[in-house]
Amino acid sequence: MTLAVTLLVMITCAACVLADQPAPTLNQDPYPELLLLILGSSISFIAPAPKNAFYSPFEQAMMNQLHKPLYTVDIPPEYPRKGEYRCPDTTKPVNIPRSQLKFLYFVVQGRGRSRQKYTYWEAQDMVDDPRIDFRRRTVLIALGYLDSTSFPIASMLGNQYEDLDYNVILIDNQRFATVHYYLAARLMRPVGKHVAEVLVQLTQAGLDPAKTELLGFSLGGQTVGYIAKNYQNMIGRNISRITALEPAGPCFRTLGHKDRLDAEDADFVQVVHTNIDGFGMATRMGHVDFYLNGGEYQPTDLNFFPCTSTCSHFRVLTVWLAVLRNPGKFIGIKCDNIQDARDGSCYSKFPLVTNIMGTNVDVCKHGVFYLSTGKTYPYFLGWNGIKPQHDTWQRITEDNDSGGTEAYT
Ligand SMILES: *[C@@H]1O[C@H](CO)[C@@H](O)[C@H](O)[C@H]1NC(C)=O
Ligand SMILES: *[C@@H]1O[C@H](CO)[C@@H](O)[C@H](O)[C@H]1NC(C)=O
Repeated sequence: MTLAVTLLVMITCAACVLADQPAPTLNQDPYPELLLLILGSSISFIAPAPKNAFYSPFEQAMMNQLHKPLYTVDIPPEYPRKGEYRCPDTTKPVNIPRSQLKFLYFVVQGRGRSRQKYTYWEAQDMVDDPRIDFRRRTVLIALGYLDSTSFPIASMLGNQYEDLDYNVILIDNQRFATVHYYLAARLMRPVGKHVAEVLVQLTQAGLDPAKTELLGFSLGGQTVGYIAKNYQNMIGRNISRITALEPAGPCFRTLGHKDRLDAEDADFVQVVHTNIDGFGMATRMGHVDFYLNGGEYQPTDLNFFPCTSTCSHFRVLTVWLAVLRNPGKFIGIKCDNIQDARDGSCYSKFPLVTNIMGTNVDVCKHGVFYLSTGKTYPYFLGWNGIKPQHDTWQRITEDNDSGGTEAYT
């Protein structure tokens, strides 16, 4: 029990640790943050899936939070915002010295989970890798802050795309993403540039950008934007598709669209939001933006433990896995604006416009979409998801709406 309480406190504090600390100096150790992230995320991954959960005081508290209005969309952001992680010199140019480029790796995965790692300097050799066949679609996967291609997150995504018969290239930039966060955020610009250089080399050797996709999670969700922008500049062509899972908010919220992921970056950009005012970002960044359960907090899949910022942020990974495995089952409804998506108040729109989240998304139906999910893997609600009575947050509130007072959503 003591352990459980300790874990809970640590998870709950993960957000405050990242959000409220003054910008740390370079020689401070980032590992406490790493520990919190891993603890928080592993809880949400290994959590048993309780049926008919009842809602704990923590969850009630979280539901109260859901009433708060968005502050990142309509109000011009002040910088640095109160409570926002401080990001000194966010827009200052930064370069990666040539001597360090040997730490930018590309991991090719295929042929029954086998892997081969190439440095930036060896990247041209990927063309001859037996795992790569340019007739197939190719996905480059960029991971988040502190992540490595040897972490389970990378295998989870890589394996699934391998099973879908993609050429899978995992970008390993751990060297540049395992420094203090605000530095990592800045370093993703040159990382994006150098990955784009490699993509140009591959294009000259037969890679078809129309069959190339970028997938990014969290900080990687911003990295893929930089990759695509640089690729456009270098070669005048577009990457066909970007999928950004919870593109990072801290240090990016206050930037203009040329300095972060944007719909301009590829032929089609799909964004999934699960923790918009925490580790993610509320702003619309794609042609299609899905706000899961309002985009801020996800329903918990573990009794007594609320799904805090960390859990909600990482939830996008398990949801995306479910999306890839269950095509056509995640259906979002179109909203007029992000605040409506946040409030889940788009059900009564007429005509109701829907779109499917995933690889088979309708690329012509642009906009902001609200998408409600169940509490536990595999999360999808199918066509029930477009009916308010199946909305998880609404069900919670209705069950508890004894006084007939105004309820969330
Ligand atoms: C690239 O994609 C953007 C956004 O989808 C689009 O506006 C632009 O025309 C495209 N450029 C090319 C060269 O296809
Ligand atoms: C509603 O809230 C109360 C606490 O106020 C809780 O005891 C009860 O389990 C909740 N009902 C449901 C269905 O979650």
